[in-house]
Amino acid sequence: MTVTDTKNQTRSETPAPGAAGEAQAYFACTDLHAYYGESYIVQGVSFHINKGEIVALLGRNGAGKTSTLRTIARTDDPQLKRGQIWLDGQAVHEMASFQAARAGVGMVPEDRRIIPGLTVEENLQLAQIAEPVGWSIERLYEHFPRLAERRKQEGVTLSGGEQQMLAVARALARDVKLLLLDEPYEGLAPVIVQEIERIVEQIKALGLTTLIVEQNAIAALHLADRAVILDMGQIVFDGGAQEVLDNADLRQEYLAI
Ligand SMILES: Nc1ncnc2c1ncn2[C@@H]1O[C@H](COP(=O)(O)OP(=O)(O)O)[C@@H](O)[C@H]1O
Ligand SMILES: [Mg+2]
Repeated sequence: MTVTDTKNQTRSETPAPGAAGEAQAYFACTDLHAYYGESYIVQGVSFHINKGEIVALLGRNGAGKTSTLRTIARTDDPQLKRGQIWLDGQAVHEMASFQAARAGVGMVPEDRRIIPGLTVEENLQLAQIAEPVGWSIERLYEHFPRLAERRKQEGVTLSGGEQQMLAVARALARDVKLLLLDEPYEGLAPVIVQEIERIVEQIKALGLTTLIVEQNAIAALHLADRAVILDMGQIVFDGGAQEVLDNADLRQEYLAI
């Protein structure tokens, strides 16, 4: 696929053009435009993530956060009509969702999608049916001892927090290069949120690159290195997480916090 940008440059052979001039960002999306049918939702989104960084993707309800994650994961809906997505030198914008997953895009959707009728362990094993495989089940259990305790229990009978851990563990069971977390704290008690935060911090310490969408913006900002704020399908801020924490006007305007 060849994409022509507004300056009439053909960029299909240019690797990873960064949003802010970073020539070779580990992950970069540039000028993404995506639609649900006729509905134009993702309206020219560009940002980058350096290797090993956690970036928080924030914005009000309906701002287009989930749609942006789905676009990056190359799901059929919304449909990407223009723009480029590069991950570790790979042209994700030219891929179908299964190819993006194989290339290392690991999406943990908001509804977690734990497979009914399968135990915790079977959910993890199923994730490893196809190459490339990531962490071993043993290693996953070391990092998620609660899942080890519940390995024989049906996944959908776990608590909300444990299901979230299982969803993250299942992503790590694949060879993931970019972890996409959509509202991992949704519906969880504060004490469980802290537990999930610790897991994300552990994952960061291991060098995994993460994009986290969260309504609980303060929690996400404490975890993240940088933040990108979306409003009506467009990026309105791209900068340090601390800058957002320090800027009450910005938070009030776009995050209502
Ligand atoms: N499947 C869909 N079909 C049509 N419009 C959708 C669909 N999913 C989301 N939208 C619309 O896209 C916009 C952005 O939604 P979404 O990406 O879910 O926002 P966020 O995750 O930031 O809350 C909203 O106006 C929403 O109504
Ligand atoms: Mg959403």
